[in-house]
Amino acid sequence: MRSLTDRGAIDPLVTIARKRDGHAISSDEIHAFVDGYVRGTIADYQASAWLMAICCRGMTADETAALTDAMARSGAMIDLGASRASAVDKHSTGGVGDKTTLVVAPILAAMGMIVPKMSGRGLGFTGGTLDKLESIPGFTVALDRDRFLSQAHRVGLAVAGQSADLAPADGALYALRDVTATVESIPLIASSIMSKKIAVGSPAICLDVKVGRGAFMKDMPSARDLATAMVDIGRRLDRRVTAVITAMDQPLGQAVGNALEVVEAIRALVGQGPPDLMEVVVVLAGECARLVRGTSDDMAARQEALATIKSGAAFDRFRAMVAEQGGDVACIDDPGRLPRTELFAELPSPRTGYVAAIDAEAIARCALSLGAGRRKKGDPIDHAVGIVVYAKVGDRIEAGEPLLVVHCRTREQLAQIGDPLLAAYTWSDTPVDVPLLIREVIRSAPPSR
Ligand code: URA
Repeated sequence: MRSLTDRGAIDPLVTIARKRDGHAISSDEIHAFVDGYVRGTIADYQASAWLMAICCRGMTADETAALTDAMARSGAMIDLGASRASAVDKHSTGGVGDKTTLVVAPILAAMGMIVPKMSGRGLGFTGGTLDKLESIPGFTVALDRDRFLSQAHRVGLAVAGQSADLAPADGALYALRDVTATVESIPLIASSIMSKKIAVGSPAICLDVKVGRGAFMKDMPSARDLATAMVDIGRRLDRRVTAVITAMDQPLGQAVGNALEVVEAIRALVGQGPPDLMEVVVVLAGECARLVRGTSDDMAARQEALATIKSGAAFDRFRAMVAEQGGDVACIDDPGRLPRTELFAELPSPRTGYVAAIDAEAIARCALSLGAGRRKKGDPIDHAVGIVVYAKVGDRIEAGEPLLVVHCRTREQLAQIGDPLLAAYTWSDTPVDVPLLIREVIRSAPPSR
């Protein structure tokens, strides 16, 4: 691969016009445009026009891979060294109550894989792994490169915040997209997510693409387009990638809120997690094993994942990670010590019947209103607040039985949140099927090393 400076200067107007008019752009031109933007020779307004042209015209698979590569190479590329062969990255496109990373990563470490994971914070109404982990007193996500790598090698997993030198072009372009109505583009989303994964260096990447009311992708065609685009980027940039499309219509598991989700993740690590969370966890662990080991027996890998829970090995890996990253392990041994609110109250079911649907986004917005997430970047969050959903889709419940629990700070919050929470529920008088959780698995190719 030639360096960016070898590619020569381009006229940004020509590149913008070419995309505006629906013509293909070469890989060299894309690299030079991204490089020019990062160096400041291409202005924000020109990059914005280009992004809008991409939004309207789309990108070919070649262009999308070139954009991903250019953004990945705009900063540091991590060298995983000797552990590269057993390294795997897992990424969720974002959901509600999605604490799978906290459970899957220790399972993979206990299965002998290495999980060097750079995670994000909550985005919009969706939660973020870093915020969840920071609800453990003392836990730091600010690991420098050496500490991140050495911990991943020794413990099998490290979860850190993304360093500023990782895919900086994506950071800058994402900030522009955010204010120019250019976030909603499959090639831009796919390249943005994958550029960071490529820069971290794992040769195997398992993507959990969420679909439904509590996800950015609201329907199967768009989830499939995004999943396929990311798997295809991996194939073109020499990564083994699997995308698992999973339902995100109702919250995953029961807990929505940072410390509450850590409690649920710890329960899952000792074999007491809610069935839907466990199903997603085990399938993702099986797919990761398949990618790393080059086998096609994901059923055996799923059994192995469950065995790491049963033996306590997965819990031990999680505890070891918390200890390494400065967290108070007493809170892991006794989750009752994690931050909690003094005030909590059960909300009774307004009727007898079967739960037909729970609007995950509406539940997430209620949790956000309690302080569990941010309205804008940099806002502080309250780790203790949140909602625990007792009755899930398909459950039958009697009027007056507890439906949800609200953990909040004030009685006013409690008074205000009841109606919107109940409005998130849809009811049926007749039995309702439990919805299919694993919607589709898209693999790049037969496993190979
Ligand atoms: N997450 C990302 O990292 N990038 C996007 O464009 C959307 C979600």
